[in-house]
Amino acid sequence: MYLLNKHIVLGISGGIAAYKTPELVRLFIKEGAQVQVVMTQAATHFVTPTTLQAVSGNPVFISQWDDRIPNGMAHIELSRKADAVVIAPASADLMAKHSLGLADDLLSTLLIARGCEEQGSILPCPLLMVPAMNLQMWQHVATQRSVARLKADGVIILGPASGPQACGEVGAGRMLEPEEILEGLCAFFQPKTLLGKRVVVTAGPTYEAIDPVRGLTNKSSGKMGFAIAKAALEAGASVHLIAGPVHLPTPLEFTGMIRRTDVLSAADMANAVESAKDCDIFFSVAAVADWKIINPSSQKIKKSDSLSPTLEFALNPDILARMAANSAQRPFCVGFAAETQHVSEFGQAKRIAKNVPLLIANHGPDTFGQDHNQVSLIDASGVYPLQQMDKLRLAREIIAQVVQRLPA
Ligand code: C5P
Repeated sequence: MYLLNKHIVLGISGGIAAYKTPELVRLFIKEGAQVQVVMTQAATHFVTPTTLQAVSGNPVFISQWDDRIPNGMAHIELSRKADAVVIAPASADLMAKHSLGLADDLLSTLLIARGCEEQGSILPCPLLMVPAMNLQMWQHVATQRSVARLKADGVIILGPASGPQACGEVGAGRMLEPEEILEGLCAFFQPKTLLGKRVVVTAGPTYEAIDPVRGLTNKSSGKMGFAIAKAALEAGASVHLIAGPVHLPTPLEFTGMIRRTDVLSAADMANAVESAKDCDIFFSVAAVADWKIINPSSQKIKKSDSLSPTLEFALNPDILARMAANSAQRPFCVGFAAETQHVSEFGQAKRIAKNVPLLIANHGPDTFGQDHNQVSLIDASGVYPLQQMDKLRLAREIIAQVVQRLPA
C-alpha cells in the first residue's frame, strides 16, 4: 500500500472527465489513503455526490454554507488533516480562479484556506492539479497564464494527456487516467533526492538473432529495470530507459522526464548506452546475452531431418564494464547479478571485476518475471542482505542507497 495513512482531499470541478473520479477514489483507497471529496456545483452535473460518498466512505461537501461541520467552517476544517489536495479534473475556470486567489464557492475557498495542522501549527498543504478540458481551452493564452502562475506558486500540474476528446476534437487537454494520477501522487510523496541528475537504465533481456524468425533470449521480464527507472523519476531525475524486448509500459511517461529507447540485441543496447553515456548514474539492470551468433542466417533456416544447424558464437561487449572504465567523467555505475550459489563471494568478485562501486545480487534466478525480489547490496565494505520486497519498494531502497554513496 503506497498511500498508507495519507489523508487526501479530492476536489472535483466541472468537466466530463469527472465521471472517472469514483475509480480514482477507489484506487486511492486501495493504496491505503483516506479520501475526503469536495465538489463544485458544476461537477455534480457529471458525477453524483451519492456515488462519491459511497466509494469514499465519507460525506461529500459542495456548498460553503454546509452546516455538517460543527463550527460551520468546512472550507477550513476539511484540509486540516490533509497530506495533499488533489484537484481532478481541474477545469480552466478553477485553475484561473485559484491562480488569482478568488474564492466564491467551497472548493475555491478551501484552496486558499488549505493547511495541514500538526502539533498546533498550520503547515503548507501541497496542491496537485490534473487539468482536463477541450484543446482550445487548454491552449488559450489565459489558461496557459493560469498554469504558469500556479506552477510559480508551487502547484504541481499533472498532465494533461493528448488524444481524442469527449467533444470529438483531438489534442492536448485529456485528463490523465486514474492509474496515472495515482502514480503521480505516489511519486509526489517520494523524497526528491535525485533532482537535476541524469540517469540511464538498461532493462529486460536482449535478443540474438539466429535467423529472421528465431533467436536466443532469456527470462528477464524487465520489471526490475523499469522499477528502477520509475523510482529514479520519483526522486526527481531525468531518465533514459534503454529496454530490450519487453511488454511493459513506459513508467511515469506523462511527466515528460523519461526517454525510452527500445533495442533488440546486446550490440544495439551497447550502441544506445554509448550514445547516452553522458549521465550521472548508470543502472545496468538488463540481462545482456553473453554471446551473439556470428553467423545468423539471412533467410529462415529450413528444418532438415539429417542436418542440424551449427551456430557460432562470439562474446558480446560487456556494456557495464565498458561504462565503468569510462574516462574521468564516468557515471556512478550500479551492476546487477543473478547468482544461484555463493551469492556474496561471486557477487563481490563480479563487482570488483566490473569495477563498479555497487552491485545488486539477486538471491537466485526465481525473481525473473516476479513482482517481488530479494537481493544483497555489495560494495567495497561488504555484503548487505535486504528483506524480500516488491520491486518498486526495492528500487526506491536501491535509489536511497545510491544517493548515500554518490560523490559529494
Ligand atoms: O557478468 P554478468 O552478466 O553476470 O554481469 C551482470 C551485470 O553486467 C549486469 O549489471 C548486466 O547488466 C551487466 N552486463 C553488461 N553487458 C554484458 C553482460 C552483463 O552490461 N554483456
